[in-house]
Amino acid sequence: MDKIPADPAGQRHGIKYDPVTTCEVAALVRLNSDTSQLTLKAPRIAAAAEPGQFVNLEAGHFLRRPIGVMAVDRQQGLVQLGIRVQGRGTEWLSRLRPGTVLSVMGPLGKGFQLEGYRRVITVGGGTGVFPLYYVQQMCREQGIDGIAVCGYRSKADSVLTDHYRAAGCQVLFASDEGDLDVEGHAAAALEQLLQSLEMDRQEDTLIAACGPNIMMQAVAKIADVYQYDCQVSLEERMACGVGVCLVCVCKTKTKTGEANSRCCVDGPVFPAKEVVW
Ligand SMILES: Cc1cc2nc3c(=O)[nH]c(=O)nc-3n(C[C@H](O)[C@H](O)[C@H](O)COP(=O)(O)OP(=O)(O)OC[C@H]3O[C@@H](n4cnc5c(N)ncnc54)[C@H](O)[C@@H]3O)c2cc1C
Ligand code: FES
Repeated sequence: MDKIPADPAGQRHGIKYDPVTTCEVAALVRLNSDTSQLTLKAPRIAAAAEPGQFVNLEAGHFLRRPIGVMAVDRQQGLVQLGIRVQGRGTEWLSRLRPGTVLSVMGPLGKGFQLEGYRRVITVGGGTGVFPLYYVQQMCREQGIDGIAVCGYRSKADSVLTDHYRAAGCQVLFASDEGDLDVEGHAAAALEQLLQSLEMDRQEDTLIAACGPNIMMQAVAKIADVYQYDCQVSLEERMACGVGVCLVCVCKTKTKTGEANSRCCVDGPVFPAKEVVW
């Protein structure tokens, strides 16, 4: 598995390695009614993926579907993905069986830039808690202090809480229904957390956010007020995943005004200050 067939699109557009590979499904575990954890045998992707990068998966239809890397096991060559069913592509992915072989492109995009930071606060809402788990895995490996703020609709809707607890980071779980640590959404929980932290680590702390746009916008605002660096992972709809089709264009700020950026290759992770919300 993990063979690398020719990929004319990748070669034409200057990608240094061929990003298309075939991977065997190692396991699919249901986490709750609409969410599953998919494990792929993908040694090359496991070795190369950085937190915040994604894979573009064959999903039973004409277009692939982008899913953020949730965790890797480099020794065993495994890549884990968290999938919430939204429509027909994620529905197809959530019904995969061990042994199925599927086409996977990746790792793609620019991930979170953790270099130089000694503390990382991840703030995830919805499916954002999946890719941010890999950020916490990396923090643990690199000896960076990790704090994870995760927002859910309710305790019944919550996923990966045991994973985060086991990752060795400080955790704060919020839910709209108030049946977890904090009542409210993830951004509100972040503000509560920042009020309790000593304000002496602005320079070595990064806030890394992933989730609904409205949540990330709120997180970016709070980070600005409390003077922390903030990076956000945008979830635009995608098609090619390699910068060709322009389906994923989003507006970003430049020194002279605004630019169109391709979320798949210029992102999905951007400094929050560069995003036009
Ligand atoms: C970089 C990146 C990382 C992602 N990581 C994950 C992940 O880790 N786990 C996960 O479950 N999902 C993730 N997603 C979202 C996932 O790709 C979409 O849910 C999926 O493409 C929907 O495909 P579908 O065929 O199931 O739904 P469709 O049938 O295509 O659409 C169903 C509904 O969802 C809406 N929709 C589809 N995609 C998006 C989107 N990107 N943003 C907002 N609304 C959308 C459609 O407008 C429609 O209303 C990620 C997306 C991106 C861009
Ligand atoms: S998805 Fe095609 S350019 Fe980004």
